[in-house]
Amino acid sequence: MLQIEQNVSLKNFNTFGVEALAKYFVEINHEDDLVELFMDPQWKQERLLVVGGGSNMLLLNDFDGLVLHVNIRGFEHRIEHNNVYVEAGGGEVWNDLVNFCVAREYAGLENLSLIPGSVGASPIQNIGAYGVELKDVFHSCCAFEIATGTFKTFTNTDCKFGYRESVFKNELKGQYIIVSVKFLLSLIANVNLRYGAIEQELTNRGITAPTIKDVSQVVSHIRVSKLPDPSTIGNAGSFFKNPVITQAEFETVHAKFPDIVNYPAGDGYVKLAAGWLIEQCGWKGKIIGNTGTWKNQALVLVNHGGATGREVYNLSSQIIDSVYTKFGVTLQREVNIIN
Ligand code: EPU
Repeated sequence: MLQIEQNVSLKNFNTFGVEALAKYFVEINHEDDLVELFMDPQWKQERLLVVGGGSNMLLLNDFDGLVLHVNIRGFEHRIEHNNVYVEAGGGEVWNDLVNFCVAREYAGLENLSLIPGSVGASPIQNIGAYGVELKDVFHSCCAFEIATGTFKTFTNTDCKFGYRESVFKNELKGQYIIVSVKFLLSLIANVNLRYGAIEQELTNRGITAPTIKDVSQVVSHIRVSKLPDPSTIGNAGSFFKNPVITQAEFETVHAKFPDIVNYPAGDGYVKLAAGWLIEQCGWKGKIIGNTGTWKNQALVLVNHGGATGREVYNLSSQIIDSVYTKFGVTLQREVNIIN
C-alpha cells in the first residue's frame, strides 16, 4: 500500500541541503507503485516533482505539490560475446552502478566514477565527465508515462541526447518517470584517457597500461581534489553549463581575452569554460553569506551551512550578470531551479 505523507522536509533529498517542505511526499519502491499512484486522478492534477539523488536541483520554496522519490532498486547483467548489458533500477545510486561494473571489469562507466545522483536521473541531463558522456554507453531506458499509465522503452536515438540535454528535459518534460536504464558496456577495456589530467595522474602513479579500475581510481582522485563532497558541503556539481557560442562571437571575445579557455564544439561553434569565465570575474572561492563558489572550481556553487535556495539563486544571478558584463557571454544554469 502506497503511503502519501504530508509536510515532509526535503533537506535530505537535495544535495544542496537547503530546507524546503513537500506538501505531499511518496516513495516509489517498485514500478507497479506508479501504476497504483496515478490511477487516482488527484495525483495527475497536483504539481509533481520527481527526485532521485536530488543532486541537480535547487529548491527555492516549499513545494506545493507531490514529491515522488524514485527508489526502485536492482541490477541485472547479461554477457553476449564481448558486450555486456547492465540494467539498473532508476533508484540505484549512480556510483554504486559504476562500482558494480568496475568490480566485474565491465568497461564503459569508469570515467563517470563518483558522479553524485541516481541512475534514473542520469539520462535526463546526459551526465558526463572526463571525456565520456552517458550517451556513449546508454542502450535504452524504461519510463512510465503519467498520462496513460503505461511503460515505454526509449532507445538512445529516441532520447535525443546533447550536451547536458535530452528529450526528457525538453519536449517530454514532466511526462515520464524513468524506472530503469540499460547500458551497453564491453568486456574489452578500451580506456578513454582524452582528458589530460587522467594521463597526468596515471603517469604520477607510474601506471603505463591502465585497467578500468585504475581509470576509475584516478577519476575519483581528480574529482575529490577539485569538487566539494555533497555529504559535507552542500552543492549540485556544476551550477552552469559551459556556454557554446558561434565562431564569430568567439572571435570577438578572443580578440579581447586571448587566454580564454575554449574547445571546438562542432561546425561553427566553440565551447567556453564557464569556470574560467567566473574565476576571471573574481568569484572563485568567494564566500557571500552562507553561500559562495568552491575554492577549487568556480563553476560549483556551495551551501556553507544554512543557505536558503533563494540565497544560492541570487548569487547565481549576480555571477550571470558579471560574466555578461565582462565577456558579453550569457551563462545558463545547468541545475534545475524548482520554484
Ligand atoms: N577553470 C578555471 N577556473 C575554475 C574552474 C575551471 O580556470 O575555477 C578552467 C580549468 O583550468 C580548465 C577548464 O576551466 O581549463 C575546464 O575545467 P574542468 O576541467 O574542471 O571542467 P569544467 O568544464 O569546469 C566540466 C563538467 C563537469 C565535469 C568536468 C570534467 C560541465 C558543466 N561541467 O566541468 O561536470 O566533471 O568537465 O569532465 O560541463 C557537472 O556537470 O556537475 C560536473 C561536475
